[in-house]
Amino acid sequence: MIRFEPLDGPFGRAVQGVDLSAGIDEEGFLALSQALYRHRLLVLKDQTCGKDAYLRFGRQWGIPIQHVIDTARMPGYPDLLEVGNVTRRWRMYSRNTAVFWHTDQSYEADVATATMLYARKVPDLGGETRLLDMKAAYDDLDQDMRGQIDGLLAIHYYGATAGRDGEPPTQQLTEAQAATVPPVSHPLVRAHSVTGERVLYAVGGTAFGIEGMPNADADALLRSLRTHCIQDRYVYAHQYEVGDVAIWDTQMTMHCAAPMDDPDGPGTERLLWRISVRGVPDAYARKRAAA
Ligand SMILES: [Fe+2]
Repeated sequence: MIRFEPLDGPFGRAVQGVDLSAGIDEEGFLALSQALYRHRLLVLKDQTCGKDAYLRFGRQWGIPIQHVIDTARMPGYPDLLEVGNVTRRWRMYSRNTAVFWHTDQSYEADVATATMLYARKVPDLGGETRLLDMKAAYDDLDQDMRGQIDGLLAIHYYGATAGRDGEPPTQQLTEAQAATVPPVSHPLVRAHSVTGERVLYAVGGTAFGIEGMPNADADALLRSLRTHCIQDRYVYAHQYEVGDVAIWDTQMTMHCAAPMDDPDGPGTERLLWRISVRGVPDAYARKRAAA
């Protein structure tokens, strides 16, 4: 029996009664996905599964996205990414790569629709993920602003955040990597691919311009929207316990990681396995095909 309980914040639900190592049938998946689309964030408690079962779960949500930084993909599991401060192979990058507000894969044409992090090692202090409810932020915009931004296309690029507003730069891409992610445009107010809800999309991180708008005006508009969104009343900070699988509706949220130092003894390591997917879950694609 799946049970949902409020998290200690403005949105999201903790989920008990799910065992990813045993797998989730279609009925269970529909219950989870409907809850996700309603609450934006689920935290599945007490998971013990390995990579294969976790990946099976990830694939129920969509097609896993292999990260543009190919060296960051997990050996043998290119659909998984190790996030945190323990992976020597790319520690300098992974430790603080996501400390700015962003939306995963908003720099790609086919954006991420769900992202999940599976907590394997959790520090005693810090290491939380902050998530922001973009629907609540959009709903609070006044009518003038909504009218102003409706129909605008924002331009996104990996690394656009570098140096902006004091944010740390993202990892530089090689020429070959950059060639796979040219700038793309997405509606500033974008419809959710399953629910159709309209929401302010990805104004952090990758957004750096508005089609047809002078740069200074676009900068000012994006900065004002970011400032509006990044308010405590829209934010939940999740402090992980080992075994948590946090999954969020990437189309309806932004998120950022708390900055971490390199590990220094017991209780200072942070390791999460990340899967980010695109597309509509199979269960919904089948329902659409049958309709
Ligand atoms: Fe992220």
